Amino acid sequence: MKILLVGSGGREHALGWKLKQSPRVTELISAPGNPGLAKLGRCVAIKADDAAELAALAAREQVDLVVVGPENALAAGLSDRLETLGIPVFGPTKAAAELESSKAFTKDFLKRHAIPCADSETFDDAVRAKAYLADREPPYVIKADGLAAGKGVIVAQTRREADEAIDQILFLKKFGAAGQRILIEDFLEGEEASFFALCDGETAVAFGNAQDHKRAFDGDKGPNTGGMGAYSPAPVFSASVQDEVMEKVVLPTVRGMKAEGRPFRGVLFCGVMITPDGPRIFEFNVRFGDPETQVLMMRLKSDLAETLLAIATGKLSELPPLEFDARPAVTIVAAANGYPDEPLAGSVIRGVADAEALDDVMIFHAGTRQDEDGALRAAGGRVLNITATGADLRAAITRAYEAAACLDWPGGFWRTDIGWRALARE
Ligand SMILES: Nc1ncnc2c1ncn2[C@@H]1O[C@H](COP(=O)(O)OP(=O)(O)O)[C@@H](O)[C@H]1O
Ligand SMILES: [Mg+2]
Repeated sequence: MKILLVGSGGREHALGWKLKQSPRVTELISAPGNPGLAKLGRCVAIKADDAAELAALAAREQVDLVVVGPENALAAGLSDRLETLGIPVFGPTKAAAELESSKAFTKDFLKRHAIPCADSETFDDAVRAKAYLADREPPYVIKADGLAAGKGVIVAQTRREADEAIDQILFLKKFGAAGQRILIEDFLEGEEASFFALCDGETAVAFGNAQDHKRAFDGDKGPNTGGMGAYSPAPVFSASVQDEVMEKVVLPTVRGMKAEGRPFRGVLFCGVMITPDGPRIFEFNVRFGDPETQVLMMRLKSDLAETLLAIATGKLSELPPLEFDARPAVTIVAAANGYPDEPLAGSVIRGVADAEALDDVMIFHAGTRQDEDGALRAAGGRVLNITATGADLRAAITRAYEAAACLDWPGGFWRTDIGWRALARE
């Protein structure tokens, strides 16, 4: 099987690493890829949102499967183009990807299908939105409708903060067209977890859960980021929570999307708040999480290529049950100094090979570049994902920090408390 993998982050390196372990995979091409992926196969310099060029590449190379990492490729209609060409693709069509690219669409969908979520109202008018807040209690959850690179949600503690967020989005167009509409959502109290389900348009199967750390600094302090670390499984996500989410969220979503003429094929990433009243969905993503994928791939024992091809071709029911290592995995995101505001590019990173030489450790590349002189340098915000497994979560965390200590990289930093919430439950 020849596979084209779209994307360039740690998520894609982890997917590529696992795909390449399949005895069925003869060649892996990445676009645009990164230095980690370059060790697994050819990288072609096409950006993830260039759907036309990517589809042309897939056709020219006669690949058997395209695996799409990032949401912008899906929102750009890559899957639609590939479907037209008859090339199997793991990742939903543009219409099905609205489950991520429009929070307003998704909220209407959830309500239509009685799927448990926070109540909300949608507004395109700032005056009305502010008036709606008048008889509501803080905190206020204000969400831009469209894709805003993880920055479009404001949880405001005061009316003043909420009003300002409304003005920023609707008036000052902080997120451009992604902020033409906003949602004001009831605040959900509870612990957050990420749950993944593979869907083939007809049915779905659970693909594990994880928790991540969004804040830049220890103690969950500092600015929001794309994610500074993750672990799987999430202790809060019990088997009964998983059953409830499959039953009340995932399966009704797959059936609903099919009934509405937008069959969903790919991975449904459920943002779940585990509230005293049970799990509530606060968002969907239509692709794998980053860095959650890094820990899921460490634990997956099944053949990923076979699995994703079955999803792409609507043959989930023919697939053997998925197998995961019971041992937990953790990943620490090493970021360039200055991240998330202004990460400094170009600093030299040494010691990756020493870190990788440890047992049960994988270093996934995210924002790196390999120069002609052989030096590995930072080329992005989140740069490396130091990933490890262990007999229990504490052992996995210890091992990951041992690997981190092998890095010689004055230009980077990472949190020292990844997994604290889970350890605190023990
Ligand atoms: N209804 C809600 N109640 C409480 N917190 C929320 C709610 N919706 C979102 N959040 C918080 O805001 C974060 C970002 O919201 P999310 O809907 O995941 O948007 P995005 O990932 O697109 O930025 C969530 O991870 C969660 O911490
Ligand atoms: Mg989110």
